[in-house]
Amino acid sequence: MNKQNISIHGEWSSRLAFILAATGSAVGLGNIWKFPYMTGEYGGGAFVIVYLVCVALMGLPVMMAEVMLGKRGRRSPVNSMRILAQEGGYSQWWRVLGWTGVIAGFLILSYYSVIAGWALAYVPKVAMGTFTAINSMPQNEVAGFVGSIFNELVSNPIQLLAWHTIFMSVTMIMVAGGVQGGLERAVRFMMPALFIVLLVLVGYAMSTPEFMMGVYFMFDVDFKSFLYPNCTEASCELSGEGMLAAMGQAFFSLSLGMGAIMVYGAYLPKHASIASTTSVVVIADTSVAILAGLIIFPIVFSNGLAPGQGPGLVFNTLPIAFGQMPYGSFFGTLFFVLLVLAAWSSSISLIEPAVAWLVETGKFTRISASIWSGIAVWLVGLLTLFSFNIWSHVKPLFMFSAFEDKTFFDLIDYMTANVMLPLGGLFIAIFVAWFMKTQIVTEELDSSPEHGGFLIWRFLLRYVTPLGVGLVFLNAIGVFS
Ligand code: PFF
Repeated sequence: MNKQNISIHGEWSSRLAFILAATGSAVGLGNIWKFPYMTGEYGGGAFVIVYLVCVALMGLPVMMAEVMLGKRGRRSPVNSMRILAQEGGYSQWWRVLGWTGVIAGFLILSYYSVIAGWALAYVPKVAMGTFTAINSMPQNEVAGFVGSIFNELVSNPIQLLAWHTIFMSVTMIMVAGGVQGGLERAVRFMMPALFIVLLVLVGYAMSTPEFMMGVYFMFDVDFKSFLYPNCTEASCELSGEGMLAAMGQAFFSLSLGMGAIMVYGAYLPKHASIASTTSVVVIADTSVAILAGLIIFPIVFSNGLAPGQGPGLVFNTLPIAFGQMPYGSFFGTLFFVLLVLAAWSSSISLIEPAVAWLVETGKFTRISASIWSGIAVWLVGLLTLFSFNIWSHVKPLFMFSAFEDKTFFDLIDYMTANVMLPLGGLFIAIFVAWFMKTQIVTEELDSSPEHGGFLIWRFLLRYVTPLGVGLVFLNAIGVFS
């Protein structure tokens, strides 16, 4: 294969541009909306530790592998995998990895857009000072008032539909604009701004009475109740759910296992170093998630809220802060605007593998590929949209006890984050560490085959990732109980 190949989709203008875009993909609703509520649902510290271990031992190595595959293949994940399999003389089945990635991206974006719509809806609410009303309320009515505003929003399908449509339309316009257009410019100022607002909010959280309780909740590790959540005097049953959720969250938060980072790697300039760029992305992503937790849990405990309340957590807690703190409406508006921007920079990476592939078929322009895939995602999004209101009682897999209480949204989230992404990561690890020739891999990584860092990386991909994913899966289906 010709290594001088340049991607037909364009290229990042620099190494920094790639870092910003990959960080833009990684940092999103997963860090600020999902990580805190999952941590809350699975009881705190132990979940956080398992998540961090998965990020370090599987996330970072798999991210390097994905970038490397993209950089070598220079095309959409479907075609990169085809070409790399051809180059090495391996089975064409490896292409399936590209396909499952396209499907996972579609499914994730379908609900991502609905949730991002909630954040969009909060921009005018906070800007108009809706939440400052809590200052004239008795403390015990505050949480109820903030909660009722959230419930009103999610129980109104028409409103949700409007926000979902706006979010998807803008996503598709950005994707149609191509690699360097709006995307690079937006992320350049957005990421630092988001970080600063988060720091301001940590400052507020520190002023709440239960700041330390929030910190303990996040870092006080209690493996017993994590592994045996339903323990009674009479019986204790091992549950692998928490482990699976933490591992899934690591892949989800880092945008791994579905080709998003691979396709960004395809636009990487030839001489950029993969190890250092990916490390920056992983550190930035993890810091944002931890900061989000440090903001949210002190507010939860200071206001007598439940940490395990699910997807509404961020929307039921942060507005309390914005109602009470000085300049709260300003910081609140800024926060939700930045959250939406962070969601947009993730969304475009969710759909890019599909769009790049459609363009490569030669039958679509970038614009028509964006429009058609956008319409498809928008339609699937309706399943999630209605899961919070008119279809909240619909449990499609009610006949299986493990899924009997899951709505369409729960199922799509579960299948993508807990199954498809870890499996995708597993096969990427196997392909790179067991199949690809060392000479090709080291050439792309700009490393020597004897380099300690290279050997550790390959060890993690060869043994730790497959074993880790395998054991967590087996545990989740109850093999060890
Ligand atoms: N990493 C994004 C987040 O944490 O919000 C979500 C995501 C983007 C997942 C891209 C997967 C992906 F390929």
